Amino acid sequence: MKGIKFDFTNMFFPNIDKGIKYEEINEYKEKIEKIISEILDEKPGFIKLLENPKYLDKILDIQEWVQSFESFVVLGIGGSALGNIALQTTLNPLNYNYMENRKTPKIFIVDNVDPDFVASILDQINPHKTLFNVISKSGTTAEAMSNYLIARGIIESYGLDPKKHIIFTTDPENGILRKIAKEEGIETLEIPQEVGGRFSVLTPVGLLSALAGGIDIIDLINGAKTMFEKVSNKNIYENPAALNALLHFLYYKKGYNISVMMPYSNKLLLLADWYRQLWAESLGKKYNINGEVVNVGQTPVKALGATDQHSQVQLYNEGPDDKVVTFIKLEKFERDIKIPKIHEEFSALSYLGGKTLSELLNTELFGTEYALTEHGKPNMKVIFPEINAFNVGQFFFVYEFQTAIMGKLLEINAYDQPGVELGKKVTYALMGREGYENFANEVKEKFEKKEKFIL
Ligand code: PA5
Repeated sequence: MKGIKFDFTNMFFPNIDKGIKYEEINEYKEKIEKIISEILDEKPGFIKLLENPKYLDKILDIQEWVQSFESFVVLGIGGSALGNIALQTTLNPLNYNYMENRKTPKIFIVDNVDPDFVASILDQINPHKTLFNVISKSGTTAEAMSNYLIARGIIESYGLDPKKHIIFTTDPENGILRKIAKEEGIETLEIPQEVGGRFSVLTPVGLLSALAGGIDIIDLINGAKTMFEKVSNKNIYENPAALNALLHFLYYKKGYNISVMMPYSNKLLLLADWYRQLWAESLGKKYNINGEVVNVGQTPVKALGATDQHSQVQLYNEGPDDKVVTFIKLEKFERDIKIPKIHEEFSALSYLGGKTLSELLNTELFGTEYALTEHGKPNMKVIFPEINAFNVGQFFFVYEFQTAIMGKLLEINAYDQPGVELGKKVTYALMGREGYENFANEVKEKFEKKEKFIL
């Protein structure tokens, strides 16, 4: 069977003492059927986009131009960057930018306004040979916009034509980037209006930099499409997105407030960063759909195997019963290294000689799984037979669909993020944005009045 697989063995009773029982799942069978029907009827943007080839076609049209640069720099943040980062680290070699035989541009993703970080990337590019991809759905995000202004300043200072060095990815109609694009004729890709940032990895947001980096975006979308078929199945026992959402929901109701994602693969690690945003921003909500205060959400945590066995696993094994752990297992690594048989006189070393690193890593994964299960801690596994665009496309889609189901189980709106607005507003006000003068005074006054406690 092609594609990723899901192993839920250690989520259930009696494999886990306090595990979920099949009867508990059965009680939700009809509800899950209804939820899936609703999602399929409502067809949120992240599903609808799979039916529309125009996004892919448009990107493929400019493939040659985009790949003709030495460097391709994404300027975006949050949902306008995390998918891009995950795609590059997962599907390109970890040393991609430093490879001499690379046939496609170096890829940089600038998703912060830390001046040391931004400067270090600017140091590595030649503006004459660089294409900047400014990604912002709203076109108002301070971080993306300030980095755009910096990039634009550099382009202008070199006397270069912005149209030849900038491409926008933004809302089809609204926002300042769209306006600038119209006025100046800057090439612009559309983010479908109904797709929010964290669900946008399979739109031009993620696809353009992926293509620039030589990733097979057609396979990526094909993976998502096959997963869509799989998760459209209304039978909970045949639908990994539904079963995973329900298991996480049932555990959440029992006080398991943390969802750990722990890939045993450095290349797959940043899928967990992407998941962290999806699960946190979609499900962490104060109000339910009826306007009642509920303050729900399960905190996603990222860990890396085997590294974090030496940092986190003590807590996971013996700490509170508040975590559901998802391992990501890679069956076939692209490369492997054989451990040489040296120091065979020492039994503490000789057992390693002749084995491979992948064998060791996956044995460690088995060990952690086994230990967690023995400690009665629920854990499951997403299995990648290998890393390729198809499997990664499946992974993105299954988690998007799972998040949509979880949103409905929690009875919240999974597609908004009102909780991030206040912090943004304070930044606008304190950085002097027009229209925010009164709010700036209010913030300063409140801050001044506070009794301070600084050591
Ligand atoms: O998921 C989201 O909606 C957010 O993380 C946004 O992607 C992020 O705030 C960036 O927004 P924008 O693309 O409008 O610059």
